[in-house]
Amino acid sequence: MTSIALKNCWIIDLPVIRDPRGNLTSIEANNTVPFPISRTYYLYDVPAGTERGGHAHKTLQQVLIALSGSFDVIINDGQTEKKETLNRPYCGLYIGPMVWRELKNFSSGAVCLVIASKHYAEEDYIRNYNQFRANDGKN
Ligand code: TYD
Repeated sequence: MTSIALKNCWIIDLPVIRDPRGNLTSIEANNTVPFPISRTYYLYDVPAGTERGGHAHKTLQQVLIALSGSFDVIINDGQTEKKETLNRPYCGLYIGPMVWRELKNFSSGAVCLVIASKHYAEEDYIRNYNQFRANDGKN
C-alpha cells in the first residue's frame, strides 16, 4: 500500500507472479483488496476525449485497475485534489467513500477494471459536486 495523501485513497501494489510464459496477478477479497467483493465491472471502448465518473459514493469502496492501456483519475476528498495515472495491471487505486472522482485521457484500447464492495445502488451516488462539498466533512 502506498499513501497518496488524500483521505480514503491509496495505491495497492498487487502481487505479480512473473513467468516467461506471461505474468499473472491475483486479487483476493479481504486481502489484496480490503473489502468483500460484491461486484466487478469494466469500462472499455471509451472514445478519445470522453470523460467518465463525475461523482462520489456515500459508502461504496472501489479499486480501479488499468488492465490495458492508460487513463487518468482525478480524485478529490474535498480538501485536496490529485491526478493518478493508471497504466499498470498490477497497480490498483483504492477509492473509499466520499471521494469525488473523474476519469479522463483514456488511451486507445484502455480497459478499466473496477472492483466494488457493494452491488450497484444509485442511491449511494452523489452526482452533484456542490452536494458533495456540502457533505465531504461527514465521513
Ligand atoms: P456510472 O457509475 O455513472 O458510470 P461512470 O462512473 O463509469 O462514468 O454508471 C453509468 C450508467 O451505468 C448508469 O446509468 C448506471 C449504470 N450502471 C449499472 O447499471 N451497473 C453498474 O454496476 C454501474 C457501475 C453502472
